[in-house]
Amino acid sequence: MFSRRHLALGLVALAAPLVSAGPCDIYAAGDTPCVAAHSTTRALYSAYSGSLYQVERGSDSTTIEIVPLSAGGVADAAAQDTFCANTTCLITIIYDQSGNGNHLTQAPPGGWDGPDVDGYDNLASAIGAPVTLGGQKAYGVFISPGTGYRIDDTTGVATGNEPEGLYAVVDGTHYNDACCYDYGNAETSNTDTGAGHMEAIYYGNCTDWGSGAGSGPWIMADLEDGLFSGLSAGVNTGDPSLSYRFVTAVVKGEADEWSIRGGNAASGTLSTFYSGPRPSGYTTMYKEGSIILGIGGDNSNSAQGTFYEGVLTSGYPSNATEDSVQANIVAAGYETASLVSGPALTVDSSISMRATTAGYTTRYIAHTGATVNTQVVDSSSSTALKEEASWTVRTGLGNSDCFSFESVDTPGSYIRHYDFVLQLDANDGTKQFFEDATFCPQAGLTTGTSLRSWSYPTRYFRHYDDILYAASNGGVQTFDATASFNADVSWAISSGFA
Ligand SMILES: *[C@@H]1O[C@H](CO)[C@@H](O)[C@H](O)[C@H]1NC(C)=O
Ligand SMILES: *[C@@H]1O[C@H](CO)[C@@H](O)[C@H](O)[C@H]1NC(C)=O
Ligand SMILES: *[C@@H]1O[C@H](CO)[C@@H](O)[C@H](O)[C@H]1NC(C)=O
Repeated sequence: MFSRRHLALGLVALAAPLVSAGPCDIYAAGDTPCVAAHSTTRALYSAYSGSLYQVERGSDSTTIEIVPLSAGGVADAAAQDTFCANTTCLITIIYDQSGNGNHLTQAPPGGWDGPDVDGYDNLASAIGAPVTLGGQKAYGVFISPGTGYRIDDTTGVATGNEPEGLYAVVDGTHYNDACCYDYGNAETSNTDTGAGHMEAIYYGNCTDWGSGAGSGPWIMADLEDGLFSGLSAGVNTGDPSLSYRFVTAVVKGEADEWSIRGGNAASGTLSTFYSGPRPSGYTTMYKEGSIILGIGGDNSNSAQGTFYEGVLTSGYPSNATEDSVQANIVAAGYETASLVSGPALTVDSSISMRATTAGYTTRYIAHTGATVNTQVVDSSSSTALKEEASWTVRTGLGNSDCFSFESVDTPGSYIRHYDFVLQLDANDGTKQFFEDATFCPQAGLTTGTSLRSWSYPTRYFRHYDDILYAASNGGVQTFDATASFNADVSWAISSGFA
């Protein structure tokens, strides 16, 4: 791993003393030091060995600090796996490595309050975004709609018209067109205070304001009251649609110039998608210096995305500094890791799924019309009931690492979540349907298999009053009750009745 890192950095002719540097060492050498540095996957300074993030588990509400395996290294994901065995875990704090104490925690309510949002945003599952860095397992922050992190009272972050730089490494395939999957500088009041009060990286295919070439997703900048791809809130064809699994996204702004840059976080260099004057109405900025992750400045939280690492700097970084940071990111060696564990499922096989909660072990996941429920089924049941309780395993419609479950008696219809209730719906071919119908099996929390929603990884197939839900442990709905949660989400999977 070390020789590989030396080689990759050597190719871009980085000065020798920075060969083992982290991204924030590189920014510091360019006189644009990090003022906030967040990552759940690795240390962003070569000397950093403190906490990267905090995880809280459902079983007893205790927490653990996840630190790098060594100074400057990859997160100790194994410590999280041990701590979270047989329970659920949430990411409660993403620590600032810069020393400024700009730690991100659960975002408070803001000016925008969606239909199913009540108060604070949700926290991310600790296991929604597994990856490897140089072969070492780590976890990113999987932001589902309704999830967000924030700090309003920061130290050292640019305000007003002060220059700053930002980068983030995100999952280029996890996005939507809602507002707003952001990382960066926002309002301290959690409300929309007008044009120029934000300067954050946006990633997704929202077209309500600006957009880039093709159908997206794009890197844009959320400058408040608009996402910008360039000089105006229109189309900048120089801002390309991206299809990389790992994306490096860069936004920076100073008094008379701002830029969007980007590239493949797993190989190659950055390109400049815009560099030039600020849009009309944004020539003077009113940055407020709070930091957001996964939400808009007013807490608009309908978007989704995955965050692995990112920083805010003071000063306007040079292209050369950012190019060195990109080389460092590539050398870190991001690769995908499996979302699936536990007993294997075979694509195209028929399965039946039996409840394992004491008192319910004769009940199987079945459907009555569109309602997905549990019913008592055995070998003497009618053929119709056996078919209602049998499901064909398909490659996940929304993520090929996971699975979708097609009804045996209603081909073309799949189990999907809708308002966190499971239902049987015909596949309508949309991205939304694909994602709502994708579930990732893992070793059961008590036994067998638990089936985690890909798009809401805090949520699992759960029976509650004999109806199936996508339930989160201790969430706000009655079906999220902690009592019996682990047993209710653990299923014995066998070959199908039909
Ligand atoms: C965003 O992309 C998805 C998937 O391609 C597409 O279904 C959706 O219509 C796009 N949204 C916009 C606003 O273009
Ligand atoms: C960075 O590169 C872009 C594109 O070549 C250029 O327009 C811009 O002026 C450069 N910025 C700096 C600070 O050198
Ligand atoms: C923990 O989960 C594993 C995998 O499902 C299971 O084999 C084991 O019995 C569980 N332990 C407890 C104490 O529930």
